[in-house]
This record gives sequence, C-alpha cells and structure tokens, in this order.
Amino acid sequence: MKALVCEAYGEVDDLNYREMEDPVPGPDDILVAVKGIGVNFPDGLLVEGKYQFQPECPFAPGSEICGDVIGLGSNVSNWAIGDRLISLTPNFGAYAEKIVLPAAIPTPLPDFMPHDLGAALLGATGTAHHALRQRGQLKAGETLVVLGAAGGTGTAAVQIGKAIGAKVIAVCSSDEKLAFAKEQGADIGINYAKEDLKAAIKKHTDGRGADVVYDVVGGDAFDICSRAMAWNGRLLIVGFASGRIPELPVNLTLVKGYSVVGVFWGQFSQNEPEVHAANMRELFAWVKDGKVTPVIDSIYPLSKGIDAIKYVTGRHVMGKVIIKPDEEIS
Ligand SMILES: NC(=O)c1ccc[n+]([C@@H]2O[C@H](COP(=O)([O-])OP(=O)(O)OC[C@H]3O[C@@H](n4cnc5c(N)ncnc54)[C@H](OP(=O)(O)O)[C@@H]3O)[C@@H](O)[C@H]2O)c1
Repeated sequence: MKALVCEAYGEVDDLNYREMEDPVPGPDDILVAVKGIGVNFPDGLLVEGKYQFQPECPFAPGSEICGDVIGLGSNVSNWAIGDRLISLTPNFGAYAEKIVLPAAIPTPLPDFMPHDLGAALLGATGTAHHALRQRGQLKAGETLVVLGAAGGTGTAAVQIGKAIGAKVIAVCSSDEKLAFAKEQGADIGINYAKEDLKAAIKKHTDGRGADVVYDVVGGDAFDICSRAMAWNGRLLIVGFASGRIPELPVNLTLVKGYSVVGVFWGQFSQNEPEVHAANMRELFAWVKDGKVTPVIDSIYPLSKGIDAIKYVTGRHVMGKVIIKPDEEIS
C-alpha cells in the first residue's frame, strides 16, 4: 500500500510518500481500506516531534479515518466485510491506504453519510460535542464564546452551541473567518485582531461575561477570557493553537466564581465508551436533521498530504481539511 511516512522527526516537508508493507490484523483487529483521513492540527506537531506522544520511526502520522472493513481477525464478530466506519487511530497510521484497528474502537458510519463527511466529522465534532455537553454543561439560553471559531473543532462548536440553544459568539482573526462562522450559525462575531476581546465579550453579554468559553487557542486569548467569565461560568481548555500554554492566577476563579475544565476527547472516548456511543448517536441525529454539518474546506490526495498539513497549521483552514487515497479522487 501507499502511505505518507515520517522516516525521522523533523520538517513536515520531509514526509515521504512511498510503498509500505500492508498491515496484518491480529485476532481482535479489523483491516480497513481507508477512504478519507481527517487532517488535524497536531499531525504537524507529531511529525516535528513536538507532540505528547512520539511513535517509533518510520510511521505514518494521522489519527482519524473513514473507511470500509476488508479483513477480520479470527475473534472478531462485531464487524463484517464491507461495513463502513469512522474511527480514531490510537497508534496513528491514518495517512495510508490501509490500516489495522482494534475491532472495539470504530463507530459504524450511518448509510446517509458519505465517506467524505465521515472523515470530516469525528475528531472535530466529537470533541466539541463532548466539551459542550459533558464538560461545559452548556444550556439553552446561555452565552457560548468560541475561540478559533472558523477552525475544525471551532466550526463544530458553533453549530453544536446553536443546536443546544445557546447564544453563540464567534471569535476569529479575520473578517472572512467571521463571515464563515456566522454562516455556521454564530449570532455575533468578534474579530480579535482588531477589537478588544474582553470589552467585546462584556459588551455582548450586558457586562456579565461568558457562561462558557470554548478555547482552542490558549496564550493571550486564554488570559483575556479568564477575565471575561460570568459567575458560574465554565472555561473549557481544548487546545493551544497559539503555541503558548497559559498559566492561570487561580484567585480569578475564586473572585469570579467560575470553573476551568479540561477536555480530552480521545481519552474520554476510551474511558467512557457508553457515554461516547450516546454522544455519537445524538451527533448522527443532528447531522441527519441538518443541525450539524461538517464543512469540508478542501480535499487533498494522499500524495499531497504535506500540503494538507501545512494548510491547516498555517492558520488558513475554514472547517475541515481531509485527505483521500489518490485512487479515491476521481
Ligand atoms: N482536547 C481535545 O480533545 C482536542 C481535540 C481536537 C483538537 N484539539 C486541539 O484544538 C486545537 C484546534 O484544533 P482544530 O482542529 O480546530 O485546529 P484548526 O482547524 O487549525 O483551528 C485552530 C484555530 O486556532 C486559531 N489560532 C490562533 N492562533 C493560531 C496559530 N498561531 N496558528 C494556528 N491557528 C491559530 C485559528 O483561528 P483564528 O485565526 O481565527 O485565530 C485557527 O482557526 C488544536 O490545538 C488541537 O490540538 C484538542
């Protein structure tokens, strides 16, 4: 099979599109023909050796796929050849034409969803859903502030915030991204490259501050939001796309009476599989009803996967970027 391979930690440009041996499923595994790959911000960090996990080289990066079952381990009874699925890939390896996965991990892809939407859905939308439902306890009528609101998981947070019935304030670095976030349902936009973020949040919440902040950016934006929270607010720590992990003077949480809540969707899906399955059922229902629709910014062939990663880490993306094996692109 073809794969995009990290031969040694270094530049994303050094990834190598080449033949790799087909993976072989163990007794509890399935073999999957990859139809689509979700590109995520950490894919670049992983290749550069800056991610929290460092698999042994050579390896194919990537952590989420959509595909069809083409092989079954001897103990596997919950999948059949031809079944369609979406999955996290716990040991990376998504940037390839085939992958072996533990049979317990993937989620069946409903018939109404094409492979491309499946590849764009799981990580970004699953994260936003878990963050807002379990961690943020977002309620109808509350005010949700979404940082990085035009990015992969930010777009999903805007749509899910509206599906829950919140008032959604999108925060983006350009007017073009804000216009996109409003198309996804955001009620209000703040361009934090131009506007004073704290003053704008206060203005749009009648001085109360945000009930829930969905923070994928960290750094200065976190510092500002930590001073713009409502009483009983929940400041959700999702990511640090700005590159700086912020520190918090914890007296702020005491004085303002809010909580800082960490979100780690991948771990959640393994630690709480039943809640995760219920989340996916709700998400699929929302997708069917049109309340949540993964937005595909662009599709790259696997042979051009380097460009896909650089597009995402270069702060350009609006929605999701996906990769497909070259033969799947007509
Ligand atoms: N905790 C979890 O379970 C979990 C799950 C998924 C993702 N994440 C994390 O969440 C973060 C966002 O993921 P994503 O898939 O939404 O990424 P994305 O599509 O690249 O969006 C990230 C957004 O962050 C903003 N940003 C601010 N400073 C940036 C910088 N220096 N470089 C790039 N972007 C910058 C950008 O919006 P503006 O230009 O509008 O500022 C961008 O749209 C990542 O750090 C990822 O690792 C965490």
